[in-house]
Amino acid sequence: MLRIVTLVSGGGTNLQAIIDGIENGSIENTEIVRVISNKADAYALERAKKHGIDAKAVVRKEYPDKEAFHEALISAVDEVKPDLVVLAGFLVVLPLKMIEKYRGRIINIHPSLIPSFCGNGFYGLKVHEAALARGVKVTGATVHFVDEGTDTGPIIRQKAVEVQEGDTPEILQKRVMEQAEWIILPGVINDIACGKISLS
Ligand code: GRF
Repeated sequence: MLRIVTLVSGGGTNLQAIIDGIENGSIENTEIVRVISNKADAYALERAKKHGIDAKAVVRKEYPDKEAFHEALISAVDEVKPDLVVLAGFLVVLPLKMIEKYRGRIINIHPSLIPSFCGNGFYGLKVHEAALARGVKVTGATVHFVDEGTDTGPIIRQKAVEVQEGDTPEILQKRVMEQAEWIILPGVINDIACGKISLS
């Protein structure tokens, strides 16, 4: 059984896609052992609770300094002994100690075809605003391993999505989620769980 911890900061639609995949059998041999958010009010935590999944908030302002916050985050992950850490819209820079400890076992979903529109400052709607401003005809999403950089780790899977006339950032974001993110992230998790993708 692949034990996964999912780190979230927002609405949790990618988390929901994983939950749905496990429940409908398209993701085999996998258990979400904990969902962790840096925001106590993240709706992603509600999604976890509705499905009986351990949901925990680790909030920066509840700690005296960044080091204590990082230690609490790492402990919250270590405690449940995950095989895989999934970043699904997690907007906190991971502590180096965590990247080193879980190297090769942390994956992230990014809403563009890396190396386009990624790196510092490219998150959420900003990614789609930049794609529209550049005038690309195709965008998409990427699942990649997480290393010390921002969106720089080895690419695991990508899926392209057409940009359409009249797209707003919100419309494009929704299409990229529906047609790419919610497909490739569960697909990669299933392939890891089934041994088709190996973890280091
Ligand atoms: C998604 O667009 C994802 O690609 C990005 O952050 C957003 C998270 O959305 N990393 P949600 O919380 O999964 O709905």
